[in-house]
Amino acid sequence: MHSLPHLPSPHYFILSLFLIPTLRCLTVAATTCHVDNESGLLAFKSGITSDSFGKLNSWSPGTDCCKCVAGNRLSGQIPSSFSKLTKLIHLNLGGNLLTGTIPIGIQQLKNLTFLQLGPNRLTGSIPDFFSSLTELRILTLSHNKFSGKIPPSISLLSSNLICLELGHNALTGQIPDFLGKFHGLDTLDLSWNRLTGTVPKSFGNLTKIFNLDLSHNFLVDPFPEMKVKGIESLDLSYNGFHLGEIPKWVTSSPIIYSLKLAKCGIKINLSEWKPVETYFYDYIDLSENEISGSPVELLNRTNYLVGFWVEGNQVRFNMESLKFSKTLKYLDLSRNLVFGKLPAAIAGLEKVNVSHNHLCGPIPATKFPASAFVGNDCLCGPPLQRCKV
Ligand SMILES: *[C@@H]1O[C@H](CO)[C@@H](O)[C@H](O)[C@H]1NC(C)=O
Ligand SMILES: *[C@@H]1O[C@H](CO)[C@@H](O)[C@H](O)[C@H]1NC(C)=O
Ligand SMILES: *[C@@H]1O[C@H](CO)[C@@H](O)[C@H](O)[C@H]1NC(C)=O
Ligand SMILES: *[C@@H]1O[C@H](CO)[C@@H](O)[C@H](O)[C@H]1NC(C)=O
Ligand SMILES: *[C@@H]1O[C@H](CO)[C@@H](O)[C@H](O)[C@H]1NC(C)=O
Ligand SMILES: *[C@@H]1O[C@H](CO)[C@@H](O)[C@H](O)[C@H]1NC(C)=O
Repeated sequence: MHSLPHLPSPHYFILSLFLIPTLRCLTVAATTCHVDNESGLLAFKSGITSDSFGKLNSWSPGTDCCKCVAGNRLSGQIPSSFSKLTKLIHLNLGGNLLTGTIPIGIQQLKNLTFLQLGPNRLTGSIPDFFSSLTELRILTLSHNKFSGKIPPSISLLSSNLICLELGHNALTGQIPDFLGKFHGLDTLDLSWNRLTGTVPKSFGNLTKIFNLDLSHNFLVDPFPEMKVKGIESLDLSYNGFHLGEIPKWVTSSPIIYSLKLAKCGIKINLSEWKPVETYFYDYIDLSENEISGSPVELLNRTNYLVGFWVEGNQVRFNMESLKFSKTLKYLDLSRNLVFGKLPAAIAGLEKVNVSHNHLCGPIPATKFPASAFVGNDCLCGPPLQRCKV
């Protein structure tokens, strides 16, 4: 579903020192590449204060730089001498322990198409220096400690950018209107920040967006009508939204695999929600809404479901009629109106919570604690009290 970044021409230099590859944006690994400017590279090595795995020691001028990936613990600051590596097209310093701010000199790397600086422990604001980085196709600054606003010069990346990940930082202010002009954007992650205000109407124009994560911010209604044909993964959880219904562009997606709309003010009867395609679903999180009805038919139409969370609603169904897909690991039905007996299949899951419902009968032998079962009408046996004979 994703478009791939261009493969680099061989004499451009790719620097990848990553521990955790980016999860959502596909990266292209080149098989060969040459270090064009060894003095710049050596200057970079001399700026890193701690390299506990000795990755950089074994990395000398003339070596194939693509061999320096799979487990680094680089700490210290990103040296400003980085700006000398002007032929760099792909820079990945994610998965380290780097601190300090982004050196402004990175703007000298005018041919960068891929820039990943997270996860790290970088601070300060995101520099407003993107007017010289207009070749960027993938920008991943997630999982750092950046504060301040999304800088205005990001708007100049609109024609090339396919992936923008700024999640898990401390960014403030509103989501800029200009993001709606990023017609090729397929992934946008702004989750776990402190963004306020509404989602711009211009988002309706993000027709190619596959992965949209705006969860854990302070965003409010109204949510724009999206024109996307096939959303793959959507997370709007834990904002100030009152969506009322599951949006039509979600229900009609033929390729959706992850839907997370926890605490989104959804008031539907789940028995009456008929998504066009359910086959690909891995994750469904509809927790903390006002959902009634039953998930039995929905789950009966999934084959690869891994997690289903619907805690804190009013769903009512007989537990024995629930289909457990072979892939299911996480199930949270707590604080609902579920009745019947617990099927033995729950023992095979990794995490279960059926507390505060109307279940009855013996608990199958499982590893789960009492808090996963308490508050039901008459569940009994370990870890709760013994069943009366
Ligand atoms: C390589 O880096 C050195 C030192 O920063 C600089 O003087 C030189 O112009 C660079 N050469 C190329 C080909 O970029
Ligand atoms: C950047 O790419 C362009 C076009 O491929 C090339 O002409 C230019 O020399 C590159 N700049 C650097 C600093 O490598
Ligand atoms: C969507 O794009 C069209 C064409 O570029 C433009 O006219 C329209 O104003 C945009 N809609 C919004 C809500 O920004
Ligand atoms: C939900 O919808 C089903 C099917 O239409 C219906 O049988 C059930 O009574 C509804 N439940 C509630 C709480 O409205
Ligand atoms: C589950 O799906 C099967 C067909 O795939 C159907 O025969 C069965 O009635 C369904 N059960 C429920 C509870 O919807
Ligand atoms: C189950 O859910 C209840 C209420 O939501 C919570 O208090 C409890 O800690 C949870 N237990 C487990 C094992 O997840």
